[in-house]
Order: sequence, then C-alpha cells, then structure tokens
Amino acid sequence: MQKKREHWNSKIGFILAASGSAIGLGNIWKFPYIAGENGGAAFIIIYLVCIAIIGLPVLIGEVLLGRTTQRNPVGAFKKLSNSKFWAVIGSLGVIAGFIILSFYGVVAGWSFGYIFEAINGSFYDFNQIESASNHFTQLTSNVTWIVGFLALFIGITMFIVYAGVQKGIERASKIMMPLLLVILIALMIKGLSLQGAEKGLAFLLEPNWGNVTGETILLALGHAFFTLSLGMGAMMTYGSYMTEKDSIPASALQIVFLDTIIALIAGIAIFTAVFATGQDPSGGPGLIFHTLPIVFTKMTGGYIFSILFFLLLSIAALTSAISLLEVVIAYFVDEKDWKRHKAVITFGIITFLVGVPSALSFNVMSDMTIFGLNFFDLADYLASNILLPVGGLFISIFIAWVWGFDKVLIELKKGSEKLFDNSPWVINYWKVFIKYFAPVLIFLVLLSKLGLLEIILNFF
Ligand code: TRP
Repeated sequence: MQKKREHWNSKIGFILAASGSAIGLGNIWKFPYIAGENGGAAFIIIYLVCIAIIGLPVLIGEVLLGRTTQRNPVGAFKKLSNSKFWAVIGSLGVIAGFIILSFYGVVAGWSFGYIFEAINGSFYDFNQIESASNHFTQLTSNVTWIVGFLALFIGITMFIVYAGVQKGIERASKIMMPLLLVILIALMIKGLSLQGAEKGLAFLLEPNWGNVTGETILLALGHAFFTLSLGMGAMMTYGSYMTEKDSIPASALQIVFLDTIIALIAGIAIFTAVFATGQDPSGGPGLIFHTLPIVFTKMTGGYIFSILFFLLLSIAALTSAISLLEVVIAYFVDEKDWKRHKAVITFGIITFLVGVPSALSFNVMSDMTIFGLNFFDLADYLASNILLPVGGLFISIFIAWVWGFDKVLIELKKGSEKLFDNSPWVINYWKVFIKYFAPVLIFLVLLSKLGLLEIILNFF
C-alpha cells in the first residue's frame, strides 16, 4: 500500500524550512562561543573552508537521497541498497535525532526561560559577570525551572510537527525565519553603533594563526556538520518532501549561504557588543547566558534588545528542533505505518524523557558522569563529534561508491537541467568533493579524534 506523501507547497517553503533546520543554537549560541574560545578569525576561516569543501557537497548529497527515495533515512538506504548494513546506518541517524534533541532542548529551554528573565528586567539586578553567572547557576539548579522549560520547548515543537509538513513545518518556517532575520539585523546594527564596536570586528576579522591547532580543525569540521544539520538524515527527510521540479544544488547553495551569513551576523552582533562593553569574548558556553545579560544592561535600549535576543535564540532553536523530531516521525510513519499524530505524541514524550537526564546534569545528577562527562556533555559530544561525522562519512561513501554514480547524476539533474548544460563545472566540483574530499577528510578527522592519527603518523 502506497500512502500519498506530503510535499512542500513551494520552493521557498523548502528553502526556509531547511534553513530553519540549519540555523539554530549552532549559529547563535555555539558558533560565537567556539569562535571566541579559538581565537576568532582564524577559526572562522577554517570553518568556512570546511563548509565549502565538505558541508555543501554532503548537503547536496543528503537532500538528493531524500528526494530520490521519498523516504526517511532508514527507508532511503533500504530502498536504494536493499542491505541491512545501510538500514542500520540510517537508524543511527534516527537515534542521533533523539540524542541531539535531548541536549538541544535543554539549552533551548534556557533560552525560553531567559525571555521571561529579560521581560522581568532581572538582568538589571547584576552589575558583574559573577552575579550574572550565579543567577544562571541558580536557575539551572532549580529542577522545576529547567525541566519545565524543557517541557514547554518540546511541547511547542510537537505542536508544530503535529500539524504536518505544509501546515506545520512549512508554515511555521515562513513566519519565523523572516522574523529571525529582522531581529538579527536589528541586533547587528545596534552592536555596530556602539562605541568600541571596532574592537569586536577586529576580533572577528583579523586572524591569529598562532592559536590554530589540530583540535581547531576538528572543531571546525564537527561544527560544519552540526550547523548544516548534516550526518543524521534531517536534510534527507526534508529532501524527501521535495518534488523533482526544484534544483537541489541551487537550493543547497542558498541554504548554506543563509546559514553562514547568519552565523557571521550573530558573531558581529555579539562580539561588537561584548567588546564595546568591555566583557570577555572567550566566555565559553556561558557567553550567551552569563556575559550577554551584563552586556545588555550596559547599553541604551538594552531592555528591549535583551528580550529580542532571547526571542531570536528561541525561534532559531525551534525551527531546528522540528527538523530533528521530524526525522523520527518520518521513520515511524514510513516504515511502521504509524499515523503522524500518534507518532508525534509518542516520540515527543519520549524525547522529553530522554532530555530529562540532560536537564538534571545541571543539578541533582551533576555528579553522575560517564567517561568523565555528565549526561548533557556526553550527549553533545557523542552526537556532534562521533555520530554526525560517522553519518556524514557513510552518506558520502554511499552516494559516491554504492548507489552508482550514473544513477546519482540522473537524479541530480532533475530540476537542474540548465545548470548541467550551462555550468557543468559545478557538477564536476561536486563529484570530486563527494567522491574524494569528503570521505577522506572526514575519515582523517575521525581517526584523529580517536587518537589514532597521531599513532599512525608517529609510526612513519
Ligand atoms: N543545525 C542546527 C543548529 O545549528 C541543529 C540541528 C538541527 C541539527 N537538526 C540537526 C544538527 C540535525 C545535526 C543534525 O543549531
């Protein structure tokens, strides 16, 4: 029995939904703090290279797998290969979805909570970073606060996914993405107008190569995957709601462009303000929740800007979380014949439950560690540093070497006939990168993550 699959209502609908997935906490919370911790401009340049030579090619590949098969990640691999092994690779993606949502939902919950903090004006109670970070610790030690906002966040995510692809995801993205862009541009203009903003710009633009190590490259690559939502089938799932009318390379380029420009704008907005108010740029994960509240109190109109900022962060998180949940839902709808509504309610609740230990890592479970990491850090580490790169590696191997490259090109050409005729170099670029660069580089990075690369290099 073949059910009719829902499709995006318009080309822009897909682009906004996919950019909504890509643009998230990764761009506004993670990117500025890892850039800040790793010396700014030099990190950003390496990150941009990773996006261009690995991110974009793998994104095209993932969307193509989804569109061709019209299936969730497990179904997509099954349909093209008929092999158990590849179905397992697909299911790793579904599992990664749960794991990412569990720590992602916690940070998103903080962001929701901070909208209320901003509205209450509580940031004006502190005048230095210690008191702001104490306040954060106080809030996150409060089980009701942290679990409550996690529940609220997952609840809203479920509400959107419940309404379906067109009426839920696409519609929400069409409202939230333009709003996000407007708020972010307003914040950037505000940041640039502050006295001393140029120090923040210099931090973002003047590379200091002295700080770059092997670890920096690993981080940049891992982040390129994370920020483009690659490696676990989220983009595959969104691609599966595409029709053959639209060009995949063109759409992918637009998504990558939007994701990158928004990370950079967020970086400008945040670092201009951080430097102008004399704060420390290398605040780590706390940059947003410890440093920024102080920054806002030191600028005119800071009250409004603080509300806008946490609203922006929450919107960005929401449009990403819906794509994570949708992977799980698509799997149960396609493969297990579940009704969407039943799947959303069941797996929304399960996601919440998986998120609870991450939330409790900040209070009652803070002493419980596995490999020296608490549950929250473990979920982040496992997903960002292992599951996503492994997923990306297998996705590129599958496309380049298992699927049959002639078939790949026939599928890719659909909707992109003009591009194939006029600019064949684009296709050749993609071919080289997906066949050689992506798998080899990801493999090396994984080896070095496991500490094996050094052993091998020392051997020679
Ligand atoms: N890309 C999102 C961000 O930058 C996070 C995200 C959404 C994600 N879906 C994903 C990451 C799938 C990895 C895989 O915040």
